[in-house]
Amino acid sequence: MTYTSILTEVRGRVGIVKLNRPQAMNAFNTILLGELFDALEIFDADENIGAMIVTGNEKAFAAGADIKEMADATPFEMIKQGRVEKWDRIRGIKKVVIAAVSGWALGGGCEFALSCDMIVASESAKFGQPEITIGIIPGAGGTQRLARLLGKQLAMEMVINNRTLTAAEALQFGLANRVVPVEGYLDAAVAFAEEIAARAPMAVRMAKDSVNAAFETTLTEGLKAEKRNFYPLFSTEDQKEGMKAFIEKRKAEWKGQ
Ligand code: CAA
Repeated sequence: MTYTSILTEVRGRVGIVKLNRPQAMNAFNTILLGELFDALEIFDADENIGAMIVTGNEKAFAAGADIKEMADATPFEMIKQGRVEKWDRIRGIKKVVIAAVSGWALGGGCEFALSCDMIVASESAKFGQPEITIGIIPGAGGTQRLARLLGKQLAMEMVINNRTLTAAEALQFGLANRVVPVEGYLDAAVAFAEEIAARAPMAVRMAKDSVNAAFETTLTEGLKAEKRNFYPLFSTEDQKEGMKAFIEKRKAEWKGQ
């Protein structure tokens, strides 16, 4: 597949998508967005890939949706193009996606990182929702995901006052999983992803699905969703192997079956 606005790379069992519009701070235009999701879906379908990373460059993960592309748009055009519905493709990805964020993660860039399963932030990472400063609000999930993750007050401040979170704050408030030095931040994210990619694939998939269920429903329904994912794992060869290996005091060898 030939892309114009992203680069892809495979390291071991980790698929990496690098946003590659540095001249525009990796702003998500229609082409970049389409390529990003195409690449993620291809990795998702590839048995040799166990986890994925989306990253930008040291200065910018992504500065949001492309303002120049939508500056003159009418509501009709925005709706017709399904401008923000397109972002929902991330919700269909079954494998774990880690956002490796350095520099700016603003607007849609912050929202995309929040849509990933985990975030590795470099010390220079900055997360914010500055849409209010251009006369709009977040449209790719920012108001909902930030409120669920950080609580109402901080979400309000970010969305209404354009409060930006540093990497240290993102870690403190539970938005980032870990903060690492800028130099080598992608390598650190790959090492993190490799740990995931080395686990029993179906168990990882069910774990992701179960945790995500917690954001969709009541505790009772969420517990049912967890059980629906728990029991079928006993039909996998990896469950038999994992428990046998524990009893035999050896490392499990996953088959992905
Ligand atoms: N869309 C289009 N172009 C963008 C862009 C964006 N979101 N962000 C940056 N660029 C472009 C700039 O226009 C500039 O292009 P030119 O050289 O052609 O002028 C280039 O990238 C470099 O940007 P700056 O000169 O501004 O770089 P800086 O270092 O001074 O500032 C920045 C960096 C703080 C990220 C600043 O560019 C900025 O504030 N960007 C906009 C952030 C924003 O408002 N994002 C929200 C977008 S709306 C959205 O995302 C809606 C949604 O929910 C889906």
